[in-house]
Amino acid sequence: MKSFTATTLAFLGYSLALVAGLPLQDRTTVHLRSRDSSSGVQGAAYFMTNEPTGNFVIAADIGSDGTLTLNRAVVASGLGSHGVSNPIGPDALFAQGSVKASAAGGILAVVNPGSNTISAFSINPSDPSAITMIGEPVSSEGEFPMSLAVSDSGNMVCVLNGGAVNGVNCFSVNKQSGLVSMPNSFRSLELNQTTPPSGPPGSTSHIVFSEDGSQLIASVKGIPPTPGFIAVWDIDSNGSLSPNFTSIAPQPTGALPFSMTVVPGENALLVTDPGVGFDIFDLSAQPDTNGTAAGKSSAVPIDGQSATCWSSFSNKMGNFYLTDIGTGIVTEVNVDNNLKGSIVQVWAPAIPQRTTELAQLTAALQQYPQGNGTATIDNDVATVNGNDFLYVLAANATSVHVLSLPAPGQAQLIQTLDFAGPIQAAGLTINPNNVQGMTVFVTA
Ligand SMILES: *[C@@H]1O[C@H](CO)[C@@H](O)[C@H](O)[C@H]1NC(C)=O
Ligand SMILES: *[C@@H]1O[C@H](CO)[C@@H](O)[C@H](O)[C@H]1NC(C)=O
Ligand SMILES: *[C@@H]1O[C@H](CO)[C@@H](O)[C@H](O)[C@H]1NC(C)=O
Ligand SMILES: *[C@@H]1O[C@H](CO)[C@@H](O)[C@H](O)[C@H]1NC(C)=O
Ligand SMILES: *[C@@H]1O[C@H](CO)[C@@H](O)[C@H](O)[C@H]1NC(C)=O
Ligand SMILES: *[C@@H]1O[C@H](CO)[C@@H](O)[C@H](O)[C@H]1NC(C)=O
Repeated sequence: MKSFTATTLAFLGYSLALVAGLPLQDRTTVHLRSRDSSSGVQGAAYFMTNEPTGNFVIAADIGSDGTLTLNRAVVASGLGSHGVSNPIGPDALFAQGSVKASAAGGILAVVNPGSNTISAFSINPSDPSAITMIGEPVSSEGEFPMSLAVSDSGNMVCVLNGGAVNGVNCFSVNKQSGLVSMPNSFRSLELNQTTPPSGPPGSTSHIVFSEDGSQLIASVKGIPPTPGFIAVWDIDSNGSLSPNFTSIAPQPTGALPFSMTVVPGENALLVTDPGVGFDIFDLSAQPDTNGTAAGKSSAVPIDGQSATCWSSFSNKMGNFYLTDIGTGIVTEVNVDNNLKGSIVQVWAPAIPQRTTELAQLTAALQQYPQGNGTATIDNDVATVNGNDFLYVLAANATSVHVLSLPAPGQAQLIQTLDFAGPIQAAGLTINPNNVQGMTVFVTA
């Protein structure tokens, strides 16, 4: 009886796959909700399953109030992978930027770290969860591609490879045929790594363009006591990269450069550093003769932090939002025009009934706990109807946390979107240790 049931179930599963035409993992799009129209949808948030059996992009609609509704899973036509770590856990790629949307280019690009490829999609501007692959996935020309940068114009995509063949490589974007490898843009980091790489120490982290688009920058974590570095290449007007990179180490207490977020208008980067909190790199200053970041660069501690690795910036708030995989806490950080970085503080009444007595006011550092064990990783900010919202991938909770940002120091959790249930119900595999990425697209 038992085996009869199992056989019946197996047959039923087979029949369902036949009805759908293809095994589930090979289907192009799996709908996670049904809806008649995209009216009221303001944008989409995307991350990826990064499954070794087949990588899928998960797209969720952003509504006018900033909240998310899961929409679909779209096959990326490549495989996910997990770096070698002990213990194995969330943040499979030791990375930020595995999935990147460009509003200017109308495209979404994702890495397939287990296939050494990159897939590009066009985004339907009036229904942004509806993405369509452009061309075929292209070779990253290295191993374990794990982070992407898209230029402001949306015309150039660069990848960071973190495996045995590591370094950067760039592509131009053709709206019909997809990504086209650019000559003279493959540059090695010459790291002694494996495929998949071991980490987090000693692994590659993130790739970004400088704010003016004239430089390409990759970050590499150190292996304490040896500090990591950021690698800076100049970009020629024809898109080729300088033959060599400038290597810049963080200020002495910094060690593990992870995500990089541009400090607007300052030729500087805020770089999360799980060894301390975050580093500021002042790119206007020549590094010291030993390669350490100089000028107004600094390393800023976040007390009680465990592993602060991801960051994004809100234009409306003028502040950065940093996530910690160990504590599950979001920290709001300000960088002033002297490049001094600090955790945002808000004066709050210690005794609510006696707000007028200054003596009763205490300063609260603006940190927003998302729950122990949630493992908050990648995040991004979207401006929806003039309001900013923060989208945080809580990997271990297989959910996306949505925080509204009504004013500096006042972030509020407004939604916890579970994605494991609906994705599993649709027959796809989802694993808290594999999910990665967070990027947003908002309809103009
Ligand atoms: C590269 O790393 C391996 C493993 O840690 C080590 O055995 C080898 O000596 C390293 N090679 C170089 C050139 O540093
Ligand atoms: C781009 O410019 C650089 C230096 O200006 C030159 O070496 C390179 O050959 C050029 N590449 C292309 C594809 O024209
Ligand atoms: C790049 O680095 C190589 C090896 O260190 C060196 O021989 C070469 O002169 C450098 N090129 C430039 C343009 O700095
Ligand atoms: C580099 O030099 C700076 C001072 O110029 C010093 O603070 C720092 O510790 C040095 N770093 C290393 C890795 O030697
Ligand atoms: C979370 O963990 C921290 C440190 O282990 C502990 O102090 C705190 O009480 C925990 N919070 C909750 C809500 O369990
Ligand atoms: C993930 O959740 C499990 C329990 O569900 C917990 O034991 C583990 O510590 C969590 N991992 C992280 C990195 O938060």
